[in-house]
Amino acid sequence: MAEVVILPTSAEAGDLAASAIASLVSRRPDAVLGLATGSTPLSTWRALAARGLDLSRVRGFALDEYVGLPAGHPESYRAVITREVVEPLGLTPSLVRVPYDDGPLATAGERYEAAIDAAGGVDLQILGIGTTGHIGFNEPGSSFASLTRVKTLTEQTRADNARFFESLDQVPMHCVTQGLGTILRARHLVLLAFGERKAEAVAGAVEGPVTASLPGSAIQLHPHVTVIVDEAAASRL
Ligand code: GLP
Repeated sequence: MAEVVILPTSAEAGDLAASAIASLVSRRPDAVLGLATGSTPLSTWRALAARGLDLSRVRGFALDEYVGLPAGHPESYRAVITREVVEPLGLTPSLVRVPYDDGPLATAGERYEAAIDAAGGVDLQILGIGTTGHIGFNEPGSSFASLTRVKTLTEQTRADNARFFESLDQVPMHCVTQGLGTILRARHLVLLAFGERKAEAVAGAVEGPVTASLPGSAIQLHPHVTVIVDEAAASRL
């Protein structure tokens, strides 16, 4: 059973998640962090940056990346991670990877899995959750054993993410995402969610049946999960 912490604001939630990261890094300065994009983890990055820790030896692996954006596009997750995580937190750019960068798409998944293994696995994975219940970009129907691979985004997810682009037709159709199996291998999962529109996905992930129809429910198979939500996101628990 996941530990569920309900806090009044996303700022307090981000502070708690930042504490978990800070305590890990104090024990292990070269810890391996699983990084998430989206609006949800922003309060965590903000709270962590405010602590002014030396994170220069931390290694990072992003959950996912779009396929099909022009190189250097500001909404590529490489660009987002650089802007929102690497620069404000003082991470070392060469120690942070996204699942699709240089190299052929066909082998991107294999290369990413090998890089995570070579780093010794992810110590702490920050997760958001989509309104479809996706974690990373593992949409409903994803296998719990899945590894990093190319996936097609659902129309719902493309619509949800259209706010980051000029129009819906600019949102990519495909991505490379860590699989549910990849995510479940991280040693500690910290799932954050805020707002009423996440309430159903949170309830399904934490308390619903463990089912591929709601990929976030995979967290119930993990022995060390912390779910940090605000009251609105907890309203269906
Ligand atoms: C995005 C990301 C996910 C993220 C989720 C929620 O599409 N690929 O990793 O957790 O959707 O996004 P947000 O935090 O902006 O609601």
